[in-house]
Amino acid sequence: MISIIGAGKVGSAAAFDILRHRVSDVILIDVAGNLAQGEALDMMQAAPAIEFDGKIKGTSDFREMEGSEIVIVVAGQGRKPGMSRIDLMNTNAKIVRSIVKEIVKYAPRCKLMLVTNPVDVMTYIAYRESGFERNRVFGMGSILDTLRFRSHIAMELNVSKEDVRALVVGEHGDSMVPLVECSSVSGIPLRCLLEEKRIEQIINLTITSGSDVIKLKGSTTYAPATVIAIMVDAILRGRNRVMSVSTYLEGEYGFSDVSVGVPVILGKNGIERVLELELKSETRLKLEKSVSMVKEAILELEE
Ligand code: 2OP
Repeated sequence: MISIIGAGKVGSAAAFDILRHRVSDVILIDVAGNLAQGEALDMMQAAPAIEFDGKIKGTSDFREMEGSEIVIVVAGQGRKPGMSRIDLMNTNAKIVRSIVKEIVKYAPRCKLMLVTNPVDVMTYIAYRESGFERNRVFGMGSILDTLRFRSHIAMELNVSKEDVRALVVGEHGDSMVPLVECSSVSGIPLRCLLEEKRIEQIINLTITSGSDVIKLKGSTTYAPATVIAIMVDAILRGRNRVMSVSTYLEGEYGFSDVSVGVPVILGKNGIERVLELELKSETRLKLEKSVSMVKEAILELEE
């Protein structure tokens, strides 16, 4: 059983995705009145059509998360058009800090996934304040950027998205670092298929993907929700998938005491292993810049 804290658009869409794929029962928690209860009731009414025999419960009571194998924190303010994820930091830091206290109390053995933005800073806070081992605390960010990067590459080349493989690391934000040297289409390196100039344009499209959606409809929903469900599936089914998630670094890539997106093996224990890649010098410089952006944000956190 897993718990999702925050029954807004992303939290609810993630819950329904997890139910549809029969990955797990869900406890949907939100402090805002009957929102979680209403969302859960609505989903249960679809259950016969999606051949779902599991359970989803909506509640405002944190105690209900007791025994959850995974707790996903989505609650917090979302970006408005023109805002950066960092603009949300201190408001959401207070929310995440209070939620982490409840998680430590009611689900002390869970794997803790952060979605609330800025997700790298929230992952850092959750790791430091929970006292959990670092393999059990991680953020959903760079895997979403990777999905968007793959999608743009597939559209540019007019090929199946299934055949496009890529990795994005660093901040889940404007300084993200798509690893072009790790990107391919069925093993064909991306640089054999696209000119550098066009690759740069696709990287810029990837960076603005989230804000492009926010400008049109106010917030992103389906892309983050789908990625949350993919991560839950990887953990609960012990699939040892390789993906880029926000991880508290302890010297990997030469960085410590910061959380950013790096490639990991995601399985039963959460982060099974951090994968350290040899990066080209220009890529390493971009990653250093990205890490410094997150570190600067952390320094501006209000206590
Ligand atoms: C996004 O980029 C919510 O940060 C998430 O859609």
